[in-house]
Amino acid sequence: MSGKDPNSITITVEGSNRSASLPVLSGTIGPSVVDIRKLYNQLGMFTYDPGYGGTAACESKITYIDGDAGILLYRGYPIEQLAEQSTFLETAHLLLNGELPNEMQKHEFEMGVMRHTMVHEQLRQFYNGFRRDAHPMALMCGVAGALSAFYHDSLDINDPESRRINAFRLIAKMPTIAAWAHKYNIGQPFMYPRNDLDYAANFLYMFHAVPAETYHSNPVLARAMDLILILHADHEQNASTSTVRLAGSTGANPFACIAAGIASLWGPAHGGANEAVLKMLGEIGHKDNIPDFIAKVKDKHSHARLMGFGHRVYKNYDPRAKIMQRTCHEVLAELGIKDDPLLDLAVELEHIALHDPYFVERKLYPNVDFYSGIILKAMGFPTSMFTAIFAVARTVGWVSQWREMIEDPEVRIGRPRQLYTGPTQRDYVPIDRR
Ligand code: ACO
Repeated sequence: MSGKDPNSITITVEGSNRSASLPVLSGTIGPSVVDIRKLYNQLGMFTYDPGYGGTAACESKITYIDGDAGILLYRGYPIEQLAEQSTFLETAHLLLNGELPNEMQKHEFEMGVMRHTMVHEQLRQFYNGFRRDAHPMALMCGVAGALSAFYHDSLDINDPESRRINAFRLIAKMPTIAAWAHKYNIGQPFMYPRNDLDYAANFLYMFHAVPAETYHSNPVLARAMDLILILHADHEQNASTSTVRLAGSTGANPFACIAAGIASLWGPAHGGANEAVLKMLGEIGHKDNIPDFIAKVKDKHSHARLMGFGHRVYKNYDPRAKIMQRTCHEVLAELGIKDDPLLDLAVELEHIALHDPYFVERKLYPNVDFYSGIILKAMGFPTSMFTAIFAVARTVGWVSQWREMIEDPEVRIGRPRQLYTGPTQRDYVPIDRR
């Protein structure tokens, strides 16, 4: 464990002389953690933390979030600086390897990714097994998981070279898999990757281009795409990353783990929120309907939520949402969209929510998904692709976190305990006496 020498805390069971002394561990920044690993041995008790809101499940050096201050750091670098000055592949190198690359390392890393962008030709056939209207995330879960059937040469997770090559494969192939999911949906030919384009531009090419026409890459949109990928690249121990780590702790191969991550990301409380935001804006339809919608969201019985608002960790403005909001205006300007009714609606909704005591008291602010959907829609992506794009970006974080976990000598299989509230032991009752 890293950090300063741990202090300890003592937990005493009231009314008894039983107590446990537990070490307190400190990171480089952020709250310290109580190491409860010996609690059961000392007191015969587990801790109870559904949703893991108070539990640090691992030690990590990759991403740091201060949710109260609205700070997000990748390997120590503020997200605002990376968004402004870096590229997605440079950020990927940073997340994976811990440092920004020098000129030569950057070139080698980009080459390493770009030479793996094609998928095995046999993998193409997998798409035909899906209905044409399959959600891109359903296709991605299946096709990404199926990669493990194609790389038998590198499934040994204990081999550093296999881990290195699979990181390249996953980061490189995910845009191809996602773009082809869309092409399959709309019945257009799959476009093979173009390695002369950069990562984001190649993704836009595979998504938008058709063989019958010349494709012209738009640098402003390619940069916006790159930025969206940077902002979504990693986010500490979120649900999908924790899913990847949990799956990986069993020794499962990285392709299977990333497929698990994609499945976890799909939910509307997580990566599916960007799609849900657009659906919500569509349902609200007009500014006049905002008060009714806000009232519905505040009504506990309605189960409605203001999608794109609130976050388990951020109790302040999500720093990614601020950058997204700016980019949103830039993209709409580039596309010549002067008035976008959805953007107008989102701005109004945000303004009202930020001043409403319900949201203020609960510290609910816009998260990264509030504006990303508007940008992606303007760039020609159907809503069903939004979470798939998120998955493309987050693959970098998943792979980085998976590798960190495998290389952590303290890692054990992830195996939480429970508070059992079911029946106590009882005898089997034959069917004629039930
Ligand atoms: N709209 C309305 N009320 C909300 C919202 C929301 N979006 N989010 C939280 N609340 C309320 C809850 O009803 C609860 O109120 P209560 O204290 O009166 O019961 C309180 O705020 C706390 O909410 P929790 O659900 O306990 O917060 P939690 O940390 O578990 O949930 C989550 C975080 C899932 C992100 C939640 O805010 C949410 O559902 N937001 C909408 C979905 C969304 O945008 N998800 C994307 C997250 S970012 C990402 O994954 C990229």
